[in-house]
Amino acid sequence: MPVVLGIESSCDETAAAVVRDGHEVLSSIVATQHDLHERYSGVVPEIASRAHLERILPVVQDSLQEASIDRTQLDAIAVGHEPGLIGSLLVGVGAAKALALSMDRPLVGVNHVHAHLWSPCLDDEAITFPALGLVASGGHTALYLMRDPVDMSMLGSTIDDAVGEAFDKASTILEAGYPGGPAIESLAAGGDDRALKLPIARLGDSLDFSYSGLKTALLYAVRGRPEGRGRDVIYPRSIEALSDRERSDAAASFQRAAIGALIRNIDRALEAHEVTCLLAGGGVTANTRLRTELTEVCSNHGLPLRLARKTFCVDNAAMIAGLGGALYSRGVQHGMDLAATARVAR
Ligand code: KG4
Ligand code: ZN
Repeated sequence: MPVVLGIESSCDETAAAVVRDGHEVLSSIVATQHDLHERYSGVVPEIASRAHLERILPVVQDSLQEASIDRTQLDAIAVGHEPGLIGSLLVGVGAAKALALSMDRPLVGVNHVHAHLWSPCLDDEAITFPALGLVASGGHTALYLMRDPVDMSMLGSTIDDAVGEAFDKASTILEAGYPGGPAIESLAAGGDDRALKLPIARLGDSLDFSYSGLKTALLYAVRGRPEGRGRDVIYPRSIEALSDRERSDAAASFQRAAIGALIRNIDRALEAHEVTCLLAGGGVTANTRLRTELTEVCSNHGLPLRLARKTFCVDNAAMIAGLGGALYSRGVQHGMDLAATARVAR
């Protein structure tokens, strides 16, 4: 029954959590940096790293306090060490190493994307495998064939933008707010999702995704086809030309296409692979329409859907501590040479 401290700092959330036995969340603290990045409409890596540095130790302290345990009761320290923004990852990995060394506890490096697929397991110990796994977040969009929660192979992934990134860009185009996913979701509420004809990328027989065409199609549909190139590009219309109703229709049409692309590949993957359920995690799986459509596609295939609760869809450290605990129980430990790695294709 290992008690594991998890540390997460791969993007713009500084998080720490204590999880017992991979499932029982004793605490989960997330310090978000949204206020720092809002004016730039996206995460600024240098600002993110500095904010992690200021917050990491207080967040760890809070997580131990909320779990009502002291450091001596921890069996291991888990840290998200790949993939992510390198400066951000280094802060979490450095803090985890310092804690592991000073407390003489084992260190376990965890893949952040795989950890998103542990989020549904935090509430559910009875998940069966093999499973299909969907990660839909701001940095990643991928389908996995999961032999068990720590052994998976990628079936397809995005060849350009991630689906969450597309939501964020759509929000910039429609001036809906930051972060873009929840802003588009609320702007889309009540809009006509068939008002704009937006493309769903089809990449032959593969289970890959592509979102950059959808983003450009939305931009042109809203502001017209541009003239000129680069810095001199001029759009015929500004966003102010749209009525509130038209903005809402555009957000709904975008959301329908973005989610449609996920559902289409899930449907195809479920046709091609014998699995016992679908696991889904990552920030975009907090989206209510996506949650409804995932429920429908699973019910069409007669399979159960295992979704993370909304607070564990977005970045958090409970998923790191949970997967870290599962890896530790299987004998995985890392040395002080554990590296932070920005990109990994797994
Ligand atoms: O998993 P996450 O917190 O970070 C990454 O690992 O990338 O995901 C953040 C992404 C952002 O792009 C955000 O706009 C999107 O998830 N997101 C949503 C919703 N909530 C967050 N997208 C659509 N609908 C939502 N309700
Ligand atoms: Zn994430």
